[in-house]
Amino acid sequence: MRSEDARPVRLADYQPPAFLIDTVELGIDLDRHRTRVRSVLRVRANPERQAPAALELDGDELKLLSVKLDGRPLPADAHEATAQKLTILQPPAESFTLEIETELDPSANTKLMGLYRSGSAYCTQCEAEGFRRITYFPDRPDVMAVYTVTLTADRDDAPVLLANGNLQQKGEIPETNRHFAVWHDPHPKPSYLFAVVGGNLDRLSDSFTTMSGRKVELGIYVEPGKAGRATYAMDALKRSMVWDEKVFGREYDLDVFNIVAVSDFNMGAMENKGLNVFNDKYVLASPETATDADYAGIESVIAHEYFHNWTGNRITCRDWFQLCLKEGLTVFRDQEFSSDERSRPVKRIADVRTLRSHQFPEDSGPLAHPVRPDTYREINNFYTATIYEKGAEIIRMLKTLIGADLFAKGMDLYFDRHDGQATTIEAFIACFADVSKQDLSQFMLWYAQAGTPEVQVQTRYDAEAKTLHLDVAQKVPATPGQPTKKPMVVPLAFGLLDQDGRDLPIRLADDGWAENGVIVLDQEQKGFTCTGVSARPVLSVNRGFSAPIRLIADITEDDLFFLARHDSDFFNRWEALQKVTLRELVKSVDAIRAGETPATDPRLISAFASSLEDQSLEHAFAAQLLTLPSEVELTLEIGRDIDPDAVHAALLSLRQEIGAGIAAQALERYRSLQDSGPFVPGAASAGRRSLRAVLLGLLTASHGKEAAELAATHYRSATNMTDRISGLAALSRIPGTEREEVLKDFRARYRNDALVMDKWLSIQAAIPEEDALDRVKRLMKEPDFSLSNPNRVRALIGSFAGGNPTQFHRADGTGYQFLVRIIDELDAKNPQVAARLLTAFRSWRTLEAGRRARAEAALKQLAGGGNRSSDVADILTRTLG
Ligand code: ARG
Ligand code: ZN
Repeated sequence: MRSEDARPVRLADYQPPAFLIDTVELGIDLDRHRTRVRSVLRVRANPERQAPAALELDGDELKLLSVKLDGRPLPADAHEATAQKLTILQPPAESFTLEIETELDPSANTKLMGLYRSGSAYCTQCEAEGFRRITYFPDRPDVMAVYTVTLTADRDDAPVLLANGNLQQKGEIPETNRHFAVWHDPHPKPSYLFAVVGGNLDRLSDSFTTMSGRKVELGIYVEPGKAGRATYAMDALKRSMVWDEKVFGREYDLDVFNIVAVSDFNMGAMENKGLNVFNDKYVLASPETATDADYAGIESVIAHEYFHNWTGNRITCRDWFQLCLKEGLTVFRDQEFSSDERSRPVKRIADVRTLRSHQFPEDSGPLAHPVRPDTYREINNFYTATIYEKGAEIIRMLKTLIGADLFAKGMDLYFDRHDGQATTIEAFIACFADVSKQDLSQFMLWYAQAGTPEVQVQTRYDAEAKTLHLDVAQKVPATPGQPTKKPMVVPLAFGLLDQDGRDLPIRLADDGWAENGVIVLDQEQKGFTCTGVSARPVLSVNRGFSAPIRLIADITEDDLFFLARHDSDFFNRWEALQKVTLRELVKSVDAIRAGETPATDPRLISAFASSLEDQSLEHAFAAQLLTLPSEVELTLEIGRDIDPDAVHAALLSLRQEIGAGIAAQALERYRSLQDSGPFVPGAASAGRRSLRAVLLGLLTASHGKEAAELAATHYRSATNMTDRISGLAALSRIPGTEREEVLKDFRARYRNDALVMDKWLSIQAAIPEEDALDRVKRLMKEPDFSLSNPNRVRALIGSFAGGNPTQFHRADGTGYQFLVRIIDELDAKNPQVAARLLTAFRSWRTLEAGRRARAEAALKQLAGGGNRSSDVADILTRTLG
């Protein structure tokens, strides 16, 4: 395996670059198979370092045509070139010019890193290490240069030519069928933010005037004929620009901002300076083709990439260990944006659900890593839920700890102090330590220690003394490479409810009034005493999910039901109901495995009934209340010896019980929520549709004939994609001819729309029935399915491996065998996507013995197979490790 030869990269080995590049002039002659790249670099030794004798430039699968130094061809004994590296053996001591010519084949680039073809366009992806697939370069984020790019292409092949920055010039090349464009980006940037695009694309145009009066031309480029589907993305972009000015004081800094949507993309999108490149899934939307979830996804990804302009581009990462410096912070910013544009508690619940379903399992298994890792073998494998989502939680805790005002001051200081730099987490945190005059060194452990802390809370009420005592203790579990942990700084927002459900004023014995209601646990164990509590209160703790922990509190079921009705903190209202539900589900999994019928606490059904009755709740919030925990969350709660069939059965049985218990009232509410009038994607009407969909799910959980009719009617009467998909999803769980007919109908309606067909693929891949695997294999033969397109692979294979636990984890191991075979094949084409699929095994050690053995066998078989990419080899080694 390659990764075992490849030395891991270590944070401790960081050295500033030996040489700096001031300017880069690129001439790129686009051609489908023989693209020529001429790169002229102004190079000088880094004054901060003793320059070593040789200049080493990174490459990856490159073909060198020529290299010149200060205009003269370099003799053979003055340089060494391989596909992976160009070494200039004795570079001049003074600054010099290096001119390098390479040739590449964009059509053969199936890894989708570097310059490649997507549909009828040329595009690039350079983060993290893709620029070295275009030309030899010190491809590391702390080498920042000013780029000027001259693109040429056949006029018909690529009428549109784009690069970073502002357009300087364009024109025809006389006596040829080619034309050219010159783009200049005045902002020094690392190579990973470089981008070019060429192709036949339509443009949606708009403009934005910034707070200081600068006019910015906005363009979204899409496949011909699809500009009408980019209007929501454009609207989201303008709202993002306004929000970043208002909330963070950040203004845009070029004359143009362009976005290009492409259909072949490894991830969600990329923040290249002034030229974002997007997976078209996060740009294209119309009521007929996109669901409310798609609209929300577009809004947040557009915002995320735009916000990177300051948190990522103006201030970038010194090295890739600092990835969370830009990603965690930018996720936090996009979460805040969506909260302001939509509903804050609903957004918080959705984000915590994501964290628990993706980050928590990662953090408790073999792939656990710190938010800032100190070693890696393959950086592409670190674009993880831990670095993104847990990274965002750290920023949120920082804000909670020092307060909103000081947080804002710290951000301003960061922008001021580090603009134009490639910097570190330490430098970032120092800004907040400086403005708050707090010592944040212990807080830094959140970046260094992996694992989800477990926090125990025990309460003692003393009626005579009128005090409530809280005993709080923490334990950070061992993770790979980190057997022992130090105590972290855990901010716990809390409140006390009186018998009527009202918040009591909080007075802490030592610290006086706890105005913001936050206690901070910074030792292994700590006690807090609330005074002046005249009757036994109900404790609501970790309000708003103030810390990304697993909370183990001695709260009775009665109190949880009480909180579910009364907590003024809406997040904890939802959380309380989830908690009781999980407790019930764990019991019923045990019952099912013992061959007994699970018996549900009737109070749980009444709690769901009252959530439904409470007309004062926002629809979207009620929908969250009525949504059961996911299979992943239940699995995590159980923790070991997992039987996915029992987990699934427990959830299904509870859903059926709730459905039956609240049927009459649910049906009435379901009917009253029917949409009238044209589709609007806003939060309020999306919330109404989501509540109606959740009710449909409960009403059809019985899987009987009436259920099938209700779901099919929902599907057939839909006037937008959201309702259409809700109907299809509900019906997909009900075996029978009705389902198969509706699946056919959907295919006939949307077969020409790949993004819509992805929904069709993923719903079918997730059907929890015996023949799911056969269905998936059949769907792979559909004419539009292709292993070369990441969206198709994620929709079909990803949904099977990640969204169909009973069938992926089949007791006979055929689910594992299947996935491993696909990964083997895909690895040769697109290692990044293959490695990502492989993370479906991340919790294999928690399975019951039989499945565990089969999973291990499948993983070992993959490890023993042919030439593994470093991406797949790295995940394999760690998963088995
Ligand atoms: N920086 C991008 C973002 O906004 C992610 C790009 C990662 N791409 C990759 N191939 N590793 O999140
Ligand atoms: Zn990002």
